[in-house]
Amino acid sequence: MTADHLAPVYAQWPLDVVDGEGVYLRTRDGRRILDLYGGHAVAALGYGNARWHQVIAEQSRALAFQSNAVPLAVRARAATRLARFAGQGLDTVFFCSTGAEANENALKLALRITGRRKVVAVQGSFHGRTAAAGAVTWGAAAKWYGFPQAPFDVEFVPRGDVDAVARAVDTRTAAVIAEPVQGVAGAVDLGAPFLAALRERAAETRAMLILDEVQCGMGRTGFPFAATMHGVAPDMITTAKALGAGFPCAALLMADHVAAHLKVDDLGTTFGGGPMACALIEAVVDIIETQGLLANVRRLARQIRETCVVGPVTDVQGAGFLTGLRTRRPAKDVQRELMERDILTGTSADPHVVRILAPYVLGEEHVAELRDALASLAA
Ligand SMILES: Cc1ncc(COP(=O)(O)O)c(C=O)c1O
Repeated sequence: MTADHLAPVYAQWPLDVVDGEGVYLRTRDGRRILDLYGGHAVAALGYGNARWHQVIAEQSRALAFQSNAVPLAVRARAATRLARFAGQGLDTVFFCSTGAEANENALKLALRITGRRKVVAVQGSFHGRTAAAGAVTWGAAAKWYGFPQAPFDVEFVPRGDVDAVARAVDTRTAAVIAEPVQGVAGAVDLGAPFLAALRERAAETRAMLILDEVQCGMGRTGFPFAATMHGVAPDMITTAKALGAGFPCAALLMADHVAAHLKVDDLGTTFGGGPMACALIEAVVDIIETQGLLANVRRLARQIRETCVVGPVTDVQGAGFLTGLRTRRPAKDVQRELMERDILTGTSADPHVVRILAPYVLGEEHVAELRDALASLAA
């Protein structure tokens, strides 16, 4: 047993955070930390957003919870707003609670609708820690998977290898699943040509294309979804993290031809689509749209690219605020040194990439703060 009774499964940073304001965290010993990591890409609006707090307070007073057995206007509004935000004809929404749960349901639908038993995924992927999502996560079997077998056949293709896609995706394939911009891998943009090849081959073989936008979606790339940015129309998109900007929630969005197969009892969950989550989803989409946050992400991501190749940084990769700073020295050393200078960043599966998942409300002065800190580090 640990002293605090918590399962000892997380490496933790030496930070004692008491609260947050804007893009900064405050620690018990009075430090002000620029948070460019946002709790694994969740804090899209930073901390203390007045509208977010107002909505959560009002909805919690009005009705904190009811299940999907009860129709709720706020749930219908959230689904409508989210489907319009996504565009691409992904007009049916199934709300759930976590990214892994969204992926689990997307995969289940693809396997059931096609009646096939194979899924093709991309090397470097991270899709979550549940049975199906973990099965399509690169390296999970060796590291933490734990189930005696995957629930379906899985084949991984190398990133960018269109020939491998043509070989792996065949008429036994139920689904191809990919993060358009891989997060855990280190902000790796799969790029429009490769995604178009996945789309084309899936269409040829009547497999479904599932884009996992749990991390890269909901405006993080400076577009509603990375699918929009790359002009690829998937059969399903999954999203979570920034969706509630701090309130746990997730969604599976699907095209009409997928939704046409659904009937009562096919999918289900207790917490998904609760009124608190839905009120916040509606508010988050509204704030992103009305405050011009997509344009802000695009502009400041450009500023990062143009100014932050200094000190130990040799290149910038990714898209929008799913940014990878490629470092000459081990990324974990650069991350530690930035933290000593009161800037919080993340690492990734790539030992030479520092990952930035900044709040969409970041300003030029914060990018300058990052740049100056990087410039002060040894190359
Ligand atoms: C791309 C992607 N998919 C799925 C997940 C799993 O989401 P959750 O931890 O909410 O289950 C993550 C989490 O990091 C992710 O980055």
